[in-house]
Amino acid sequence: MRTGYYTVGYGRRFPGHARVERFVREFEAREAKGDTPKEQAAWDAQYAQGEWDHLTGLKELAHYAVIVGYGTFLRPGGSVLDVGCGEGVLQARWAPHGYERYLGLDISEVAVRKLAGRVDERTEFRAADADEHVPDGKFDVVVFNESLYYLNDPLAALGRYTEVLNPDGVVIVSMFQGSRRSRAILGAVRREHRVVDSTRTTQGATSWDCLVIRPSQPA
Ligand SMILES: C[S@@+](CC[C@H](N)C(=O)[O-])C[C@H]1O[C@@H](n2cnc3c(N)ncnc32)[C@H](O)[C@@H]1O
Repeated sequence: MRTGYYTVGYGRRFPGHARVERFVREFEAREAKGDTPKEQAAWDAQYAQGEWDHLTGLKELAHYAVIVGYGTFLRPGGSVLDVGCGEGVLQARWAPHGYERYLGLDISEVAVRKLAGRVDERTEFRAADADEHVPDGKFDVVVFNESLYYLNDPLAALGRYTEVLNPDGVVIVSMFQGSRRSRAILGAVRREHRVVDSTRTTQGATSWDCLVIRPSQPA
């Protein structure tokens, strides 16, 4: 059922879709594997054990560079909301280009605590669940960098976060292309939003797709 749901049903209204969605979510919660929603404690444990340290390495550089390239080209010096910021790898790549404000949100208190030394008058990191929390204020760029598929309802979250964009702001969604779930979510994002550009980066057998959504401008 899960395969069929992600292959043809994801993000679509079909008879019984709510029951199928509930079944898939419950199954994924029991499995707690892959790019599916996880409890805060699971993320905290991963960050405490350094499981995401590899994100700072050369093999991960290209997909961060694409995000920074899009953001700084389209909204130079603008304000950035980084949803699921982790240990702030994207902020470190973005900072040399400058920004008016950078707010990183992450469900992991362990990850956010590690960022205390980077906080300044323009830079803030906040422990919050992006499935529920939407910050006050408006942003020029909202980024979901390898984080959208960890939310319970990625499409609903994307819709909510689009509301905090400044006029002519952009949402950048980058996702690892490793599973039916990630491909299904990206397919639904392409169907439902004005995607004005996209780039695929590949490193060995791994690929990432980066989409730029510009709600104010027809695709
Ligand atoms: C694969 S890591 C990517 C981290 C960061 N975006 C990067 O690429 O360097 C996924 C991140 O999403 C965060 N995350 C997962 N579920 C979340 C939620 N409901 N609300 C906020 N952050 C969440 C995790 O804690 C983790 O830091």
